[in-house]
Amino acid sequence: MIHRVKFISNMIFAIETSCDETSTAILNLEGKLLSHIVSSQKNHQKFGGVVPEIASRAHLQILQIIVPQSLKEAKIKLNDIDIFCATCGPGLVGSLLVGSTMAKSMAIGHNKPFYPINHLEGHILSPLINNKLSFPYLAILLTGGHTQIYLVKDIGDYILLGETVDDAVGESLDKIAKLLSLGYPGGPLIEKIATKGNINAFDLPHPLEFEKSLNFSFSGIKTAVSLLIKEQTQITEKIKNDIAASFQNKIIEILKKRTTLALETLKKKKYNIKDIAIVGGVAANRKINEAFVKLSQNYNCRLNSPPLELCGDNAAMIAWACLQRHKIGITPDLYFKVNPKLKL
Ligand code: KG4
Ligand code: ZN
Repeated sequence: MIHRVKFISNMIFAIETSCDETSTAILNLEGKLLSHIVSSQKNHQKFGGVVPEIASRAHLQILQIIVPQSLKEAKIKLNDIDIFCATCGPGLVGSLLVGSTMAKSMAIGHNKPFYPINHLEGHILSPLINNKLSFPYLAILLTGGHTQIYLVKDIGDYILLGETVDDAVGESLDKIAKLLSLGYPGGPLIEKIATKGNINAFDLPHPLEFEKSLNFSFSGIKTAVSLLIKEQTQITEKIKNDIAASFQNKIIEILKKRTTLALETLKKKKYNIKDIAIVGGVAANRKINEAFVKLSQNYNCRLNSPPLELCGDNAAMIAWACLQRHKIGITPDLYFKVNPKLKL
C-alpha cells in the first residue's frame, strides 16, 4: 500500500508543442511512461510546410482533448502530478507559448513546480529512454530545423562540435519534396520513392567537402536539385525517383563524412567514444540508419537511435529530459520565457 502511494504520487506531466506535433506524456520518476499521445497536425499538408498561426491554433484545440485523455490513459488525476514541464524552445514562438502556458497554468493551479525544457536536449537524450549509453557519446541531431553534432559528456554537459551553416537536413528534404510536388513532410516521402531510384543518376554537389570544420551545408545541393528540375522537359516518375535517390545518397555521404571527422578529432583528443546516437525526425530514415550502423561498427561503437515513435517530436523525450534535470538537482523555473532560438 505504501509502495503504491509512492508510485502514483511521483509523476511528471510533459507537453511538447514546438512545431506541428501536439504531444503529452506522463512519466513516473522511475522512468516508466504511463501515457504518451502524439497528434500530428494534418492541416499543413496542402501548404507544403508548417503555417505557424495554424499550428498554434491547432495546438490549443488538440491539447484540450489530449490532456484529459492522457490522464485517463495513465489512470490518474491532475492532482497526482508532482512536476509539470513543457518545451520552451527552440521552435515556433506561438506554438511554444500555447504548450508552455498550459503546463505553467496547471503547475500554478496545483501549486507544483514547472520545468522549462529545451527541445534539442529532449532529442539528444532520447536514446537513453530505457537504454544505456556510456558517456561521453556522440549525438548527431537531425531534425527539420537543426543539423548538429554534440559531444554528450553527461546530463546537462553538452559540447556543440558542428552544425549546419544554412539549411537543416530535414528542411532540405522537405524543400526538395515540395519541388517534386510530393507533399509534406518530405523526409518519409523522399525515402519511399528513393527505394525505386538510381543513386548515381545525378551528380550532386558536396558542399564544404574539403573543409576541416565539423559544419554542414545543405542549401547548395537544394539549389542544384532545383536547377536540375528546371532543366528537365518533363518530370517523370523515374526522374523523381532518381532525384530522391541521388539526393538521399548525397545526404548520407555528407553526414558520414562529418561524423567520421568528428570521431577522428575526438580520438586525437583521447576521448573514448563507445556510443553514437542519431536522433530527431530524420533518424527515422532506414538508409541513414543503415549507413550509421556500418560507420559505428568501423569505430567499434554501438549505434543508438530511439524507437521510431520517439525519433520525431514527442512529449516522452521532454518528460525524460525533465526527469534527468530533476535528478541532478536543477531547479524548476516557472518564469522562464519561451525562446524560439533557444540554444543548448
Ligand atoms: O524532429 P522532427 O520531428 O521535428 C523537428 O524538431 O524539426 O523532424 C522533422 C523532420 C522533417 O524535416 C521530416 O521531413 C523529417 O524529420 N523526417 C524524415 C523522415 N521522417 C521524418 N526524414 C527522412 N526520412 C524519414 N523517414
Ligand atoms: Zn524535433
